[in-house]
Amino acid sequence: MKIAIPKERRPGETRVAASADVVKKLVSLGFDVVVEKDAGAQASVPDSVFKDAGATIAGTAADTFKDADVVFKIQRPILEGDNNELALMKKGAILIAQLGAATNKAEMEAYAKAGVTSFAMELMPRISRAQSMDILSSQANLAGYKSVLDAAHEFGRAFPMMMTAAGTIAPAKVFIMGVGVAGLQAIATAKRLGAVVTATDVRPATKEQVESLGGKFLVVDPEMEKDAQTEGGYAKEMPPEYFEKQKRVVAEHITKQDIVITTALIPGRPAPVLVPEELVKTMKPGSVIVDLAVEAGGNCPISELGRVVEKHGVKIVGHENVPGRLAEDASALFAKNLFNFIAPHVDKEAKTLKFDFEDETVSGTCITRDGKIVHPVLTGEAAKKKEEKKPDPEPSVAEKKDSDEKVTETTPAPKTPSAKKKG
Ligand code: NAI
Repeated sequence: MKIAIPKERRPGETRVAASADVVKKLVSLGFDVVVEKDAGAQASVPDSVFKDAGATIAGTAADTFKDADVVFKIQRPILEGDNNELALMKKGAILIAQLGAATNKAEMEAYAKAGVTSFAMELMPRISRAQSMDILSSQANLAGYKSVLDAAHEFGRAFPMMMTAAGTIAPAKVFIMGVGVAGLQAIATAKRLGAVVTATDVRPATKEQVESLGGKFLVVDPEMEKDAQTEGGYAKEMPPEYFEKQKRVVAEHITKQDIVITTALIPGRPAPVLVPEELVKTMKPGSVIVDLAVEAGGNCPISELGRVVEKHGVKIVGHENVPGRLAEDASALFAKNLFNFIAPHVDKEAKTLKFDFEDETVSGTCITRDGKIVHPVLTGEAAKKKEEKKPDPEPSVAEKKDSDEKVTETTPAPKTPSAKKKG
């Protein structure tokens, strides 16, 4: 079986869906691994590293995709123009990547029509067994780390307290909004750098996590927060009353902060606005905001996608593809996630891949199969099931505003529904 790893061609993508370690593992399972020339160039992985690991290097995209049974990619294939990658894939090929499936339905239909079996790794169910396959976690963790370094880079002061002969420097105050995977890593990183860290989230379970990392938790409304989490561990969209209260609590706190890192996302929805422009105006000159949600519309409405801007004396960082700013590590972890996904389905005797479609990591991510779209999020089945399952005749505060919530434990909705226009 041939596994192809093409060079990523979407603008701004620096990662590659392979590492030497993963190539070695695939080769030892009996697969022929073909990596496109310069595929790892932006991730500091030269062709020679892949070659030494046992891969063949193909000179062109066409040679890479030709006859491939499986394609590992970071981003979904390009469908248009001279770089049409789907056109290079054979009928029956298996595509495994971050497809953005729920927001790119027309493209998923094109995969079905081309006879490609595709898996959207962003839809991996959040169950313990699937943690090692979870690209959202592996990439968000790196983004959280990098967001603190990006903030430190833009900040005109030091992070740790320093007592020097020339005077004492106060530690930086860092406030993290949204304590998922990225937020937790941001807290840990800011603590390691010596900052005084506070954090907030709608999910009450995060309070303990923040405190265990040495941060202080900022509570908004414990009553409304009781109902803020879906079965799958994601946040629900909160009602306007919550946002009003959050604004007041945060307003008081934010004026005293030096760095604000926002990471709040709601699957399938635009990112919630947590730092409106009037709050930015109250921040100290020289403060820094890093908006990690900028690709989902932004937690700060005046952040700009792909740019660092200064507004009201505050630097606002809106880098795109933050994991790609740590391309070597991000690639290695992404590739390992893909490997961990296929590994249980490898027939070692026959040296082939035979997916068990009863396995929820497979059924939860499979988008197209046998010429059809099969994923419940795209066929509408997920919404229907959710409707049937509703047990509570008296909906909660959050659910009243959120009746068309489509998230279930095994079928998370897309993370980035509406990116900001690039600045
Ligand atoms: P995410 O990227 O969807 O959102 C980031 C954070 O923003 C979340 O903690 C969310 O609660 C918070 N948020 C949303 N709206 C907010 C608002 N208005 N104000 C403040 N905060 C707000 O979340 P992520 O990082 O994907 O993690 C979600 C959960 O899934 C976590 O509990 C995590 O531990 C869990 N998880 C489980 C995995 C598994 O079991 N396989 C793998 C990865 C994560």
